[in-house]
Amino acid sequence: MKIGTMMPQAFDVTPVRADLPFAARITGLDPARLSDPDVRDALRNIWIDKGVLVFRGLEGEDVHLELSRIFGTLVQHPAREARAAHPELMTVRYKPESGWLIDVDGELRGTWLPWHSDLIYVDRINRGGILRPVQLPSHLGQTGFIDKIGAYQSLPDHLKWRIEGLNVIYKYDLDASHQKFGRTANPKMVRISPDVASIQARLDDFPRVLHPMVYEQRETGRKVLNVSPWFAVGIQGMENAEGDALLAEVADHIVGSSDVYLHDWEMGDMVLWDNWRTLHSATGCPPDEERWMLRTTIEGDYGLGRTEDDAAIDRAGYITV
Ligand SMILES: [Fe+2]
Repeated sequence: MKIGTMMPQAFDVTPVRADLPFAARITGLDPARLSDPDVRDALRNIWIDKGVLVFRGLEGEDVHLELSRIFGTLVQHPAREARAAHPELMTVRYKPESGWLIDVDGELRGTWLPWHSDLIYVDRINRGGILRPVQLPSHLGQTGFIDKIGAYQSLPDHLKWRIEGLNVIYKYDLDASHQKFGRTANPKMVRISPDVASIQARLDDFPRVLHPMVYEQRETGRKVLNVSPWFAVGIQGMENAEGDALLAEVADHIVGSSDVYLHDWEMGDMVLWDNWRTLHSATGCPPDEERWMLRTTIEGDYGLGRTEDDAAIDRAGYITV
């Protein structure tokens, strides 16, 4: 008999919002139970089912790391990016005096990010990550999530038929004013950090990559509408008006979803997302307020991405957003 079956229920699972078919809130989880194999299996299963898990009431670096390791091996971030106490943690920080500043439809926002999947601009996209706040702004600073399984299910049949078997081309470019598809605002870069400036000065160094527009979630067979609006530049073999119109229609369908989960951060939150199956975005923070988050990154490769001409990728040359 498994020990776990004799124990009281390890945690509570509730929807983050009554009308939302993805994402779940996990409460009442005692950190001492994180080593229980049954608890670990249960959390992994809920993650695969729901895509985003919001943990409330967990605290601290050790719990952040132990919780993250339930879902896979963690990426060791280079020291330059990490600047955190632990190599498996990455700092995501906006500082008013020097941070990445964007004018979003006339409003200044620190580190505003459009809808995207992390690393979609390289061949290997990571499995996901867990974010937790260290310092939050008085308002804004939310993280948005869209479920790409739900987006596929709600796609009109004539589009499902047209996109089957197609690949989307992605190109690294951190200037969101260059985004071609699925735009939700008209952003203008006001100030970029030295790292971002260095990337933007050598965009030709980064090869174009391909990812399938549709694939099946390995564990469930559910189809995923695998389009990241940010960084998408076209459809392979259809870089013309017809292909651009098709990609625009699909991207607009995704970002126009009514099933958006916008997470309002509280201290003590940890949010896990499945980067293979969800998109995320950042509403950015007020320009004069600091926002400081720490994130883990779960390694992985869904095995479906590749460079357009099979070029080798210098992974150290990229900043992950
Ligand atoms: Fe991201």
